[in-house]
Amino acid sequence: MPQQMTSPISDGLVYFGAGGDLALRMLFPSLAYLESSRLLPSDLPVIGVSRTIMDDDAFRRLVREALESRAPEAVASGAADQLLARTHYLPVDATKPEDIRRLGQKMTELGIQRPLYYLSVSPSLYCAICQGMLAAGLTGDHARVAMEKPIGKDLVSSRIINDTVAASFNEDRVFRIDHYLGKETVQNLIALRFANTLFEPLWNNLTIDHVQITVAETQGVGERWSYYDEYGAMGDMVQNHMMQLLCLVAMEPPSDLRPDSVRNEKVKVLRSLRRITRADVQGSVVRGQYGPGVAAGKAVPGYAEEKGSASDTETFVAIQAHIDNWRWAGVPFFLRTGKRLPDRDTEVFIQFKPVPHSIFSDESRQDMAPNNLLIRLQPEEDIVLRVMNQAPGLSLEEMRLESLPLSLSLKNAHASRRRIAYERLLLDALHGNSTLFVRRDEIEEAWEWVDGVNDAWRRLGVAPKPYPAGSWGPAGAFALIERTGRAWHDD
Ligand code: BG6
Repeated sequence: MPQQMTSPISDGLVYFGAGGDLALRMLFPSLAYLESSRLLPSDLPVIGVSRTIMDDDAFRRLVREALESRAPEAVASGAADQLLARTHYLPVDATKPEDIRRLGQKMTELGIQRPLYYLSVSPSLYCAICQGMLAAGLTGDHARVAMEKPIGKDLVSSRIINDTVAASFNEDRVFRIDHYLGKETVQNLIALRFANTLFEPLWNNLTIDHVQITVAETQGVGERWSYYDEYGAMGDMVQNHMMQLLCLVAMEPPSDLRPDSVRNEKVKVLRSLRRITRADVQGSVVRGQYGPGVAAGKAVPGYAEEKGSASDTETFVAIQAHIDNWRWAGVPFFLRTGKRLPDRDTEVFIQFKPVPHSIFSDESRQDMAPNNLLIRLQPEEDIVLRVMNQAPGLSLEEMRLESLPLSLSLKNAHASRRRIAYERLLLDALHGNSTLFVRRDEIEEAWEWVDGVNDAWRRLGVAPKPYPAGSWGPAGAFALIERTGRAWHDD
């Protein structure tokens, strides 16, 4: 995404939660790759912060070890070592003012005046960290803060966090991360829609029959259950990643790529999303939880066994949603996400309507399928348009048809490493470009919608339906779409 901002680049990165899983799997590998692409300022200091007592050398060893498997090319090129040479570590308990003061001294020593604070700690600490920074005078006009999800676990708690953060940082200096927005194909969706004249005239209820958004994962919740049990699939996936995908598919064309131009359009989609109430939750949403089953040929425990006790948290949801505006009236959006499903598959599937009249014989007509457009994010990134074509060959019979998949991705031409979504996001946050970050009102609108579903479930006592690990969720998920005469896309 082109840089739209003129504000100065951050001159230091302060990373809270530095020894954590996300830091080692994603953040430092992304930094190392940015370094090897020469996209980081060559003197950018990085301070890793967490509660663990460790010195610079021990931290650098820990990060280097992670980079060997996660960013091997950056290690081989020497970029990882260049980055590590400017990487420091400070044990900090973010709730202790004296620790925050020590952090301030360290930043002064390293000459950091325009820090990007990156919070990858429990969201329960976000308020304490921002308040501590404010009290220590570390939130000056050029400081930015990036925050991982989840921002709250409902509308009320997200407002409390957003209010506290706002007391320390203006909204244009707050970067709420949804790593799906950093994925290449998600940005490609923006290019596909708004850099072509082909699709936009068709992108509405006259031509599109329905839209499906699937985020299927094979992994279970495993060790993460203490976090997950509070959020479930609605809070962990739907409120953020799936809502963002939905917004990018459904939004009106923004006038440019400036942060607020794009985010204004996204928030309008969220406001048009029909609320799901107690009256329709049972018909519009399917709630499931995986039980024991088989994944990748191995027996795996159910969610309740992983947790060690019964739970009424959902690990699967399927939703029929509607966007009440002119463009999308009458077009259902089917959303589906779950853990321990048979395949890892993240995709947006646009099903177009059939041709209004067929000129072909009955036989050929059977071969005909309406066009569709598949935007696949995982396991491989690809965009595939299916069009009808004459089946090649000469015969005395009437023309036969076949459906032809046209891949629009330049995968082979660009045969290079698949970028980590955080590379884009870190780079944009350092430059102050918030187009790919989530604004406060988006988060709050999304929570309000999700709260409606959770509330309806609670009041009606809707428990998740069990499904065996390794299956596509409860039977109701198929019924949800099939009773509208449609089916989940599955190739
Ligand atoms: C995270 C969720 O935000 O996204 C996880 O907390 C989920 O539960 C993950 O597994 C999926 O991300 P990706 O990029 O692997 O699709």
